[in-house]
Amino acid sequence: MANLSVVKGDLTKMHVDAIVNAANESLLGGGGVDGAIHRAAGPELLAECRTLNGCKTGEAKITKGYKLPARHVIHTVGPVWHGGNSNEETLLYKAYYNSLQLAMQHHIATIAFPNISTGVYHFPKQLAAETALKAVEDFCTNHPDPIKEITFVCFDDENYNIYHDLINIPE
Ligand code: APR
Repeated sequence: MANLSVVKGDLTKMHVDAIVNAANESLLGGGGVDGAIHRAAGPELLAECRTLNGCKTGEAKITKGYKLPARHVIHTVGPVWHGGNSNEETLLYKAYYNSLQLAMQHHIATIAFPNISTGVYHFPKQLAAETALKAVEDFCTNHPDPIKEITFVCFDDENYNIYHDLINIPE
């Protein structure tokens, strides 16, 4: 069973097999963590993204990590929050689950996630964290072995405190 952990910091600095990008459907970069990843990885990342023909919300695609310490980037697209009646929870769940599915297919053992959809896409942080953890726990129940370490990398204190309480990390 994968070890779950939460840290506060910069996803682009993580030394893991794969970091997960909170991208948009074009996969052509943006602001937030997407912008930070592209800046840190260098222009070759965008060049490879251009070959992927975009990514649907809830789906995931993989590239190399280039200048990042992470070997791969798994690009997923979380939903924009529209009030909760547009299938947002299911789509966010799928973004996490499909990212792990793709990681397993590429024999990735250590992976780090940002708090997908909780920035520009305005998904409520508490519900996003609960949805993320349900997807991750369901995936690990269905596939207990391949992935050894799953880290949630929080950029702000609010997300960090929410995950810390949900993962019940002993003081
Ligand atoms: N490391 C870790 N987390 C980060 C970093 C970073 N370097 N930079 C930002 N974040 C956090 C934000 O604070 C937020 O908690 O990532 C989370 C996701 O926020 P966004 O990056 O805004 O992503 P999202 O809400 O999913 O919106 C995606 O924003 O950047 C564009 O191209 C992207 O259109 C897409 C949209």
